Amino acid sequence: MRQGWFLPLVTILLTLNTQNLEARENGVKTSVFLSPKLVLGPGSVANKVFYDIDFPRGHVALKDFNAEVVDEAGNSIPLHETYLHHWVAVRYYERKGISVSKHSHSSGFHQADRIIARNAGICDHGLTQYFGLGSETRKTATHIPDPYGIEIGNPAEIPDGYEEKWFLNVHAIDTRGAEERLGCTECRCDLYNVTVDEYNRPLNPDYIGGLYCCYDETHCLVKQGFESVRRNLYMKYTVKWVDWEDSILPLKIYIFDITDSWSKSDELSKHNCQIEYTVEACANDANNKACVESRQISVVMPTGGDVIYGVAHQHTGGVGSALYGEDGRVICSSTPTYGQGTEPGNEAGYIVGMSTCYPEPGSVRIADGETLYLDSNYSSSQRHTGVMGLFYILVAEPLPNSKSYLQAAVEIRGETAKNSFIWIGVLFGVGIAILVAFLGYRKLRSPREDEYEPINI
Ligand SMILES: *[C@@H]1O[C@H](CO)[C@@H](O)[C@H](O)[C@H]1NC(C)=O
Ligand SMILES: *[C@@H]1O[C@H](CO)[C@@H](O)[C@H](O)[C@H]1NC(C)=O
Repeated sequence: MRQGWFLPLVTILLTLNTQNLEARENGVKTSVFLSPKLVLGPGSVANKVFYDIDFPRGHVALKDFNAEVVDEAGNSIPLHETYLHHWVAVRYYERKGISVSKHSHSSGFHQADRIIARNAGICDHGLTQYFGLGSETRKTATHIPDPYGIEIGNPAEIPDGYEEKWFLNVHAIDTRGAEERLGCTECRCDLYNVTVDEYNRPLNPDYIGGLYCCYDETHCLVKQGFESVRRNLYMKYTVKWVDWEDSILPLKIYIFDITDSWSKSDELSKHNCQIEYTVEACANDANNKACVESRQISVVMPTGGDVIYGVAHQHTGGVGSALYGEDGRVICSSTPTYGQGTEPGNEAGYIVGMSTCYPEPGSVRIADGETLYLDSNYSSSQRHTGVMGLFYILVAEPLPNSKSYLQAAVEIRGETAKNSFIWIGVLFGVGIAILVAFLGYRKLRSPREDEYEPINI
């Protein structure tokens, strides 16, 4: 009779713990979507813009965005077959009731029927996306820690008569059988036999490689006699989100570009972001394996805040990129991981992941109007065309009373966590003690072994 209440108590203690975990996990929703198909044969290029893609709807906070290229059976496709040059997901508002083509090969966007709902900056044109990466997509962390999120679908922000949608630009190059695989991924104009751009305008003869030479439907040189099937591929993207709540702190997305020609000393200068550039091979010497080209720019952040996340985007040859504060402190340093095998996610010679920064909230703060420095380093032991040097940061607005308030908040949160931890420990200890006592009554052979059983249930 005395034992009657012991077991239910233990059960309640353990259940309470589990339910907390489940509730948190249940709040985060995960959706897996497929882009419309990309049809690719050896040497071919697809640079498509898909409007009104499948995306989480409603007023939500995005927590994670991951992607990869798959075939019709859902198999992951390695980069040495289909090189994912880049993809970007852009938020926009579309006038209700208009009928516009969902598919296009260009990202021209001039009608008032569609308005880009761009990120927080800072390029004056282009780089408006919320998310976007390239070959590094599979192994680059994108999750956003609590209590932060990227707010979308807020009815108060959507202009009257419009609805919020997303478009996806995917640029993929099929390099099966390529004469020069690296050259194809670097969009070298000679390999594409291209002398005019997408709109038939002659290219400057000095332009030897980059996006203007590997536009939609162009072909890169393939080894003579090489044949393989054309196949249907898709960009599979996985989005995690939670329903919007006022306790979520919204993040602003900033993208810096190493080719930004803005100058602090010229009041009229714009953030003219070229997006891509060429790294020339270093002067030939015995030591050229060690050659590194380092570029640096400065930009001013109009409004600062707490950096919650940072990551760079580089192409093959990249050896790292970092963002620094006005005083030289490192805000975030991001370095590439090169693959070493053949399987998807580990393709030798390709950047398969970029390291990311998740500073403790409040520990890396950018002041309003602070000058930041960005550097982007590439190996220059050989020439690289069409490379990029972007840096993404996610910034939270500091809470009203600035530093002291925030630090206090963090401390209180830490204190609460510590207290809960102690309480869980105490309760758990009591639970175990009760259980041991209970099991003792039953005269079990090995209490040690049995102590663990309920925890595994
Ligand atoms: C390259 O383009 C030119 C004209 O645009 C064409 O005459 C020539 O056959 C092309 N060469 C190859 C190898 O496709
Ligand atoms: C880039 O190269 C410069 C010059 O060598 C160096 O000072 C800097 O630390 C490098 N940055 C990164 C992120 O590796």
